[in-house]
Amino acid sequence: MRLIHKTKAILGVAFFNTFLVAGAMAAPPDAIAGKAKAQMCFACHGENGLSAAKDIPNLAAQPPLSITYQLIQFRGEQRKGGGMEAITQALSDQDMRNIAAYFSALPPPPAQSGNADKIANGQQIAGTQYCNSCHGSQLQGQKHIARLAGQSPEYLMTQLKAIRSGSRIDMDGTMGSAARGLSDEDIESLAAYATSLP
Ligand code: HEC
Ligand code: HEC
Repeated sequence: MRLIHKTKAILGVAFFNTFLVAGAMAAPPDAIAGKAKAQMCFACHGENGLSAAKDIPNLAAQPPLSITYQLIQFRGEQRKGGGMEAITQALSDQDMRNIAAYFSALPPPPAQSGNADKIANGQQIAGTQYCNSCHGSQLQGQKHIARLAGQSPEYLMTQLKAIRSGSRIDMDGTMGSAARGLSDEDIESLAAYATSLP
């Protein structure tokens, strides 16, 4: 079990490094070309990066590297869901960087109100479980790590449960470890807290 985990971690890091090196040599991301390519995404993720349904993530203000990395994972079918595997097949790495430049530059989703007790509980868990040390002090995301602030709570809960069960594999195992000890109630509170942040 431990060995499998370690192998996964090494593969993940190697993959990520290769991607970063390749990225450094590519043309700079072009948000205008990205917007043109992203037309086929708007029906679900919105032209403003705010999604059309609760099970679809908002992409506005997501860190560009996080968007690009998730698209690569869908194209390689390491991550599956929402038909995203099929949608990404025809996209090149450059298309993905361009699309990421477009969505990441959009204004963040508005904060949503929720149950005050759950929000307070979620804030506390986010501190004790170090969610902010990776996802940022306001869960705004950074580098390859997703923005959680203002995200749909339903989407966050589904993803946390999928990462906890291992049905969604994460790149280097760090997020899997972070999710493993969470109860369903913790997940509900964390989602309420993240959603309440601007
Ligand atoms: C038919 C609706 C639909 C279309 C069209 C669509 N998506 Fe998605 N997308 C989804 C759903 C649903 C998910 C969540 C998948 C899951 O449950 O894991 C998702 C997930 C994502 C994620 C992961 C976000 C995260 O926070 O991890 C990214 C990035 C993404 N889509 C980008 C795109 C881009 C770029 C396009 C256009 C090229 C696109 N999507 C087109 C429905 C769609
Ligand atoms: C050691 C760094 C680290 C810690 C600590 C961490 N995360 Fe993550 N998280 C990540 C990374 C990296 C990803 C992207 C995983 C992937 O798809 O490869 C991620 C992804 C996620 C996602 C999926 C987001 C999306 O848009 O699909 C959620 C939700 C999430 N984390 C919530 C949390 C919560 C809640 C905590 C605290 C209990 C936490 N994370 C702690 C690094 C971390």
